[in-house]
Amino acid sequence: MRTFFQFIIIVFLVNNTLSLTLDGSWIGKITTNKHEQEITFSATVPGGIYTDLNKAHIIPNNLNENNDVINRWVGNQSVIYTKRFYVNNTLLNAPKVVLIFHGVDTFATILLNGHEIGETSNMFLRYTFDVTKYLEKEENLLEIFFSSPVKIAEILHNKQALKYVIPPICTPDSYNGECHVNYIRKMQASFSWDWGPAFPSMGIWKSVEIIPINEIYIMDVTTDIHKKENFWNIIITLFFEVTSQRNITCHISSVLNINDQLNIHNSSNVNLYTNDKDTKRTILLKIPTNLVNEWWPNGYGNQTLYSLTVTTATSTDVKQKIIHIGFRTVELIQKPLKTGLSFYFQINNVPIFAKGSNFIPASVFPELTAKTDTIKHLLRSAKEANMNMLRVWGGGLYESELFYNIADEYGIMIWQDFMFACAMYPTTEEFLESTKKEVIQNVQRLKNHPSIVLWAGNNENEAALYGNWYGTGTEQIYKTDYIKLYVDLIKKEVEQLDSTRPFVVSSPSNGLYTEKYNYIGKDPYLKTFGDVHYYNYFNNGWDMHQYPRVRFSSEYGFQSLPSIYTMLPIVSTITDLDIHSDFFKHRQHLPLGTEYLINLISKNLKLPDTQNTLKRFEDYIYLSQINQAVSVKIQTEFYRQSKSDLNEIGEGMTMGALYWQLNDVWQAPSWSSIDFDGRWKMLHYYAVEFFAPIIVTYYIRNMHLSIHIVSDKIHSMKNATLEVNLYALNNIKPVQSYIYPNITIEANAVTTIDDNWLKYSWILTSTILNECQSNSTTKSNCITTLTLKDKTGIPLAPRNYIYPSNVLKNIALPIANVSIKVNDNHLPGKSFNYPNIELELTTDNITLFVWLEAGNICGRFSENGFHMFENKKSIIFLACEFITPKVLRKSLKITTLSGIY
Ligand SMILES: *[C@@H]1O[C@H](CO)[C@@H](O)[C@H](O)[C@H]1NC(C)=O
Ligand SMILES: *[C@@H]1O[C@H](CO)[C@@H](O)[C@H](O)[C@H]1NC(C)=O
Ligand SMILES: *[C@@H]1O[C@H](CO)[C@@H](O)[C@H](O)[C@H]1NC(C)=O
Ligand SMILES: *[C@@H]1O[C@H](CO)[C@@H](O)[C@H](O)[C@H]1NC(C)=O
Ligand SMILES: *[C@@H]1O[C@H](CO)[C@@H](O)[C@H](O)[C@H]1NC(C)=O
Ligand SMILES: *[C@@H]1O[C@H](CO)[C@@H](O)[C@H](O)[C@H]1NC(C)=O
Ligand SMILES: *[C@@H]1O[C@H](CO)[C@@H](O)[C@H](O)[C@H]1NC(C)=O
Ligand SMILES: *[C@@H]1O[C@H](CO)[C@@H](O)[C@H](O)[C@H]1NC(C)=O
Repeated sequence: MRTFFQFIIIVFLVNNTLSLTLDGSWIGKITTNKHEQEITFSATVPGGIYTDLNKAHIIPNNLNENNDVINRWVGNQSVIYTKRFYVNNTLLNAPKVVLIFHGVDTFATILLNGHEIGETSNMFLRYTFDVTKYLEKEENLLEIFFSSPVKIAEILHNKQALKYVIPPICTPDSYNGECHVNYIRKMQASFSWDWGPAFPSMGIWKSVEIIPINEIYIMDVTTDIHKKENFWNIIITLFFEVTSQRNITCHISSVLNINDQLNIHNSSNVNLYTNDKDTKRTILLKIPTNLVNEWWPNGYGNQTLYSLTVTTATSTDVKQKIIHIGFRTVELIQKPLKTGLSFYFQINNVPIFAKGSNFIPASVFPELTAKTDTIKHLLRSAKEANMNMLRVWGGGLYESELFYNIADEYGIMIWQDFMFACAMYPTTEEFLESTKKEVIQNVQRLKNHPSIVLWAGNNENEAALYGNWYGTGTEQIYKTDYIKLYVDLIKKEVEQLDSTRPFVVSSPSNGLYTEKYNYIGKDPYLKTFGDVHYYNYFNNGWDMHQYPRVRFSSEYGFQSLPSIYTMLPIVSTITDLDIHSDFFKHRQHLPLGTEYLINLISKNLKLPDTQNTLKRFEDYIYLSQINQAVSVKIQTEFYRQSKSDLNEIGEGMTMGALYWQLNDVWQAPSWSSIDFDGRWKMLHYYAVEFFAPIIVTYYIRNMHLSIHIVSDKIHSMKNATLEVNLYALNNIKPVQSYIYPNITIEANAVTTIDDNWLKYSWILTSTILNECQSNSTTKSNCITTLTLKDKTGIPLAPRNYIYPSNVLKNIALPIANVSIKVNDNHLPGKSFNYPNIELELTTDNITLFVWLEAGNICGRFSENGFHMFENKKSIIFLACEFITPKVLRKSLKITTLSGIY
């Protein structure tokens, strides 16, 4: 008997892979708007209309020139996707067969062999259709009829407008966008955003499969993990698809694999009834905490993951699913402070300062948002920049399995928005029903991932309502709708579905405090509650005083231009590469964005004065990247130095800094730190340093200087030394040096140096801010470096700088002769699996904002945008393809601040 049973398992385990994929090549049809002509083209699944038509040479490259507008007609058409396929007897004879669409974008009617099997209207849903009756022995024909999302949005709006309008009516003209995306459950940014074009996409953006069900099929496995005393209790829930012919007894077993020698398992028998509406069953697993390692965010420990195997066996069928889980607790601590409430994440009982950025979809074409190379590169870049959190923003999409798997692996905590952003939303019965399914499915799909630490109802919709962004005024109906959607529906559902994670209704919001006033009615930007978004394009970004001392900064940022190497391939004439060209205006969606940019740069740096438009464009790229990098650095440092104390009015205890935004969807001026081609902007290199585990920063108020050493380490450190060097801008030797010895760096806190040594040093402060006296010459402006070292002289934090106020734009910068040498030997160290290449830089003078580029060679530098206060500096190029030092040397370009004028 025993042997027999094992035999069955072996036979049926193979059955696990019985599904028939319908991915691959399909046929598409579209009517062109010009000649009303029907065109047939070869299509791909997963895929989408814009990528398919471009591949078929029916429309030009979507992201070149102003082709977003040229190709726009596509989004107004109806489209048909068809697939012919055969099934074998296994499928034909199965008692039940389901057809699963993992993602359809968005409005489609689905026919199988001429029978209408269903409709879709929400791109965030998985659709499962019972097709048992419709499969044929001969060829099968699956037809998907798509309607234009632009037209449907318009129809829904017109219908709704009979009662009341749901704003915003449209995007600003400069977006070249489409209207009414808030009426449809589709990626909101696909109708345009201030950083992206409109591509009202259609298509089957995720996989399609057909699955025979003999008795049972495990659709999903979810886990809820709670820590109770010395155990991790795992509630495992299996969601079944069953045949409805007979009652089934099913043996469920679950095994947690701890290591080669050790498994922990549990099993039980359950019954599944024909008349069951609820086809989920649970099983518990208790894991002694001392047997497993915890999962930690990046920088705090390992990201240990365990595989959990669930197997179900009936008398004739065995199915299995393996998932990966991690053990960690997460709390959002909101406890009373002097004023307001705290707002920070605590993982495994350690308060964590959230460092990171905001993630927008990796592509404006949904089918390209899960490309392994792209996602790996972006998340790896986040990890390399010492980030531990990304916010998956509510105008994009619930990301792919791949995305969250990598986040789990890299220790990137995810703040997960629901997909509602910058708008009011309808609350019709259909809309709420669709949203409810969306919430249930996506929470179930994602909740196994230890990386996800928070669910958030929407992006900026409370702020929009409170601040009357869209003319909603004091109308009660919009408040009622708001509560209906985010509180009565989403909050309630999420709290039922997932008791292991916190939920906030909106970002920004006042967190728990919102409950006190029924979620709307107070300024959601209060500094002493919840999270805040802060943008200011008028103040000097390098001036720390302007920034708000908040509990958690979940959005802030500045624009810059992407690399010239990213822009070059998409323009047809070199005259487009001009900050005043029509092309550039087309790419700049932010109204007055370029004016802000120029004005912000001019506050600290001299503007380019050349008449050569291409050179001027390159200078603007460089200067805008400096301005963005330094501004975000200073703002982030301000947030980090506010980590462990409150000021006299109770502001402070800042525990999060997520700048806007990590990535891009096209080649355009934007707030990103990584451009569309994956190139790190200067900001991303700076993020590596300003997010380092320990930083040394400063604050100057009323000619009073204080030094703040911020540590995220959970152990204190003794006997560190701070070195303050003042340099005249024309001499590579410091003109004044101070040593501050024997500093104890507190654990997970800010250590402030504010004693006599600095307190009465207004002369020092004045010197730092203004002029240094060098021995030989007259006074000149000076720049100050802060270096923190341990007792053996090894740097503990990246070197930091105090720039003289208003100076870099007014004086003649030192002329430096910088040369670069590429060492012929590959270094033994490897990244991206390719050997690293060493570069040696030499200069004869202080050199500011040294910027290295490697043209179209894939890779990055170990440091970039740095200052040289030494004659020699060694830099590593980390290549992501094999290249010789010689090839690198040919492509290398070096830019310095004094060099561009
Ligand atoms: C029938 O098709 C399914 C799906 O492609 C495949 O997994 C299975 O092996 C096939 N069965 C036989 C008997 O060929
Ligand atoms: C697409 O449809 C919308 C809504 O009807 C309309 O405003 C727009 O002009 C159309 N665009 C094109 C390119 O035909
Ligand atoms: C399945 O079990 C339920 C509950 O025991 C019973 O009412 C039903 O008749 C059974 N159905 C079949 C097909 O045996
Ligand atoms: C993390 O993993 C490494 C390598 O497996 C191991 O040597 C180290 O002890 C682990 N650290 C902790 C804190 O568990
Ligand atoms: C300035 O003068 C002092 C004392 O005369 C000397 O120690 C120092 O090296 C000089 N600094 C420079 C930059 O020449
Ligand atoms: C260094 O600091 C420690 C701790 O604050 C103190 O106990 C010790 O006396 C100091 N040593 C010197 C040489 O000042
Ligand atoms: C503290 O550091 C200084 C160097 O900065 C070193 O000379 C001294 O020995 C250290 N003291 C201890 C107790 O380690
Ligand atoms: C550094 O630059 C300054 C200002 O341009 C110049 O006076 C000085 O001679 C330069 N130093 C060297 C070593 O070239």
